[in-house]
Amino acid sequence: MRTQVTIIGAGPAGLLLSHLLHLSGIESIVLETRSRADIEATIRAGVLEQGTMDILANAGVGARMKAEGALHHGVELAFGGRRHRIDLTELTGKAITVYPQHEVIKDLVAARLAAQGQLLFEVSGVQLQGVDTTTPSVSFVRAGEAARIDADFVIGCDGYHGVTRPAMPPQGREDFTRNYGFGWFGILVESAPSSDELIYARHDRGFALVSKRTPTVQRLYFQCDPADHVDNWSDDRIWAELHARLENNDGWRVNEGRIFQKGIIGMRSFVSTPMQAGRLFLAGDSAHIVPPTGAKGMNLAVSDVNVLAQGLEQFYRQGRDDRLQGYTDAALKRIWRAEYFSWWMTSLLHTFADATPFQREMQRAELECVVSSRAMATALAENYVGAF
Ligand code: FAD
Ligand code: DHB
Repeated sequence: MRTQVTIIGAGPAGLLLSHLLHLSGIESIVLETRSRADIEATIRAGVLEQGTMDILANAGVGARMKAEGALHHGVELAFGGRRHRIDLTELTGKAITVYPQHEVIKDLVAARLAAQGQLLFEVSGVQLQGVDTTTPSVSFVRAGEAARIDADFVIGCDGYHGVTRPAMPPQGREDFTRNYGFGWFGILVESAPSSDELIYARHDRGFALVSKRTPTVQRLYFQCDPADHVDNWSDDRIWAELHARLENNDGWRVNEGRIFQKGIIGMRSFVSTPMQAGRLFLAGDSAHIVPPTGAKGMNLAVSDVNVLAQGLEQFYRQGRDDRLQGYTDAALKRIWRAEYFSWWMTSLLHTFADATPFQREMQRAELECVVSSRAMATALAENYVGAF
């Protein structure tokens, strides 16, 4: 097989890139280890920045997001028994949309298939060859048969545990990592949302987050030990923990309901540079990870491939590669800003096992500053909506 661009991974990065290239008349094939049903059912992110919504809408895949997504003009910070609203729209003129990642995935898969796009699901043994040449190839196994795709470019959109980052030449690489030593326990709950807006709560027992999915489904998270197991958490224990962490003085309580999904994710910050070696490029989680507190991961995946698609378009339309060669620098500006904000939100709202009493007081004082200073609230709001 031959194509112009081989894309490894059918997450938001790989699928959107394939669709943007198609809109520019560039051919691609997407390789994915999992099944279509699996990628369309995996519960992950929920928050889309205005810029992400604009990119999806301009690419013609925003109709359901606009109709079914919930536009949010503010978020709440809860601590010390009180809730404080940050008015995102008043402070920045922008808003965010809560629309689940797996719905974005469904919309992108549908758009690719409608345009006869080539998505190869359930492949295995993906390996890269000749990435230091102008004719890289990818070999893999599909339905028991060995296959190979020759292309002009290979793009690694295969997430943190993929095969493309390890295939980058080691020379000149620099990785930046921070592990937080805690994770998030996430649940889906059958009940009406407890709050119209997201609530980020700091409590001595640990962080908690109230989000939603639909008018009948809530998405809730609480800080936990990343080595813990969901089987250690009965529904009663989960509700007791959430009530304790979200308790407040105005009588508001989180709505209980049937818990129908539970999962634990570890939290880390990670950036791997450069994001290009010859004809191999990385985009999204394959190159960087943020802790989810800032809701930036999927948004970064979208902004990376938006930059990359412009570089590839310039290459094929004008025969120039200066945009492609500038990809790492252009993408990293936004990535480091999001890394900073995600680290800051995480530091502000979680409990740290090694925190001294002094550090705990500093955290409380900083939260007071954010909710009482318009300047600090504006800084949070600008970063949260992605106005940078
Ligand atoms: P992925 O979505 O990881 O996609 C990679 C794909 O590649 C996968 O489908 C995988 O199966 C496939 N793959 C892997 N290896 C191979 C291989 N060898 N060959 C072929 N295919 C392969 N982000 C936000 O913006 N907002 C949020 O609110 C938010 N909340 C989150 C909450 C949780 C609980 C979690 C876990 C994440 C959250 N994120 C959030 C982060 C967001 O989900 C990720 O950043 C996003 O999925 C990255 O997209 P991606 O396409 O780069 O990678
Ligand atoms: C959701 C996830 C996040 O990481 C976040 O910061 C806010 C909301 C969510 O899944 O709804």
